[in-house]
Amino acid sequence: MTRHADQTVRVELANRSYDISIGDGILARSGPAIAALLRRPFTVIVTDSNVASHHLAGLEAVLATAGITHEHIILPPGEHTKSFAHLEQLCRALLAHELERSDTIIALGGGVIGDLVGFAAAILKRGCNFIQIPTTLLAQVDSSVGGKTAIDTPEGKNLIGAFHQPSLVIADTRLLETLPSRQMRAGYAEIVKYGLIDSPGFFEWLDQHGSDLLAGESTALAHGVRESCLRKAAIVTEDERETTGARALLNLGHTFGHALEAELGFGETLLHGEAVAIGCALAFGYSAHVGLCPNHDLQRLLAHLKRLGLPVHPRQAGITCSGARLVHHMMQDKKRSGGTLPFVLARGIGAAYLAKDVALESISAYLDQVIASPVML
Ligand SMILES: NC(=O)c1ccc[n+]([C@@H]2O[C@H](COP(=O)([O-])OP(=O)(O)OC[C@H]3O[C@@H](n4cnc5c(N)ncnc54)[C@H](O)[C@@H]3O)[C@@H](O)[C@H]2O)c1
Repeated sequence: MTRHADQTVRVELANRSYDISIGDGILARSGPAIAALLRRPFTVIVTDSNVASHHLAGLEAVLATAGITHEHIILPPGEHTKSFAHLEQLCRALLAHELERSDTIIALGGGVIGDLVGFAAAILKRGCNFIQIPTTLLAQVDSSVGGKTAIDTPEGKNLIGAFHQPSLVIADTRLLETLPSRQMRAGYAEIVKYGLIDSPGFFEWLDQHGSDLLAGESTALAHGVRESCLRKAAIVTEDERETTGARALLNLGHTFGHALEAELGFGETLLHGEAVAIGCALAFGYSAHVGLCPNHDLQRLLAHLKRLGLPVHPRQAGITCSGARLVHHMMQDKKRSGGTLPFVLARGIGAAYLAKDVALESISAYLDQVIASPVML
């Protein structure tokens, strides 16, 4: 309805295509769309306790009005929930609810719930359906779209998982009203990433409207979420399983960021999105250092991230280790192949590309220089 200016982005993947419905308050209007996807009027909602306290009752009311009976499973919040132990607990709880293969599970939460529930849906009874209702900015612009699902193990993050696309994504920007501002900023880093990859015009828009978006201004928020989903949908359509290299561009900032997260033990000290912000600064910093990227573009990016309250330097996360140690963490990355690691570098804002021949010694030496100098970024 135009009154609400709801938007739909379609992810085109043959018989696995689906819609991302975006809007302020759109969840309350989504009962019929959810009901239309169910084989029988029954579903199980999986969420975490933080999200449940704010948004479970609202979703349950929407389902009840649409004539859908439902059960719910509430898991603990936090990255530790993406574990084998919670996967087992979740799968067994779903079986206890007598979920059938043609049934649909609803993931209500951030990237942790989305990744875990998506993986459970991929393997339960050899694959059942799921709907994503992302409740963090990061999940609305990134993790709920594209079908990557996973859990973590002591060996690393997201090493056990599957590609399994949802049947529908409902991105209700109003759900973000309860999200802590630090989590909002972390999600924003993934939005900036899309501008940096191939959309200088979008970066320009973010430079002007990013603070409105972060303040929760609904038009700016809906625009930022929609533009991000459009870009992610296009890349996923082109390269669903990350085989041609197009999807790998979405890893901009992630190889560096992942190393910082690994050094800090993947906890609350550095949120994933904060690591991505520093990672983007490092990817652009390195690109400028080797003469690929104009210094002007690097300075624009750094100024933008700093103005919006995002970290840009490893020392801001308390990291003082050697470059070699960070490179060692990078080598645990699942993108590693044949002993080398592709890096997403940039020839400027909106001009990222996949570099497969970067010498790790050069990355290590650059990181040593940055870490030695708090003013280098
Ligand atoms: N599958 C993908 O393509 C993909 C992409 C990027 C990130 N990820 C994964 O996403 C995860 C991070 O996701 P995240 O940043 O959403 O973290 P998260 O799911 O842990 O959520 C962050 C915190 O916010 C709380 N929360 C969520 N929604 C809320 C709301 N509306 N109001 C109040 N509190 C709320 C949660 O309980 C949690 O404490 C990581 O595990 C990462 O690996 C996956």
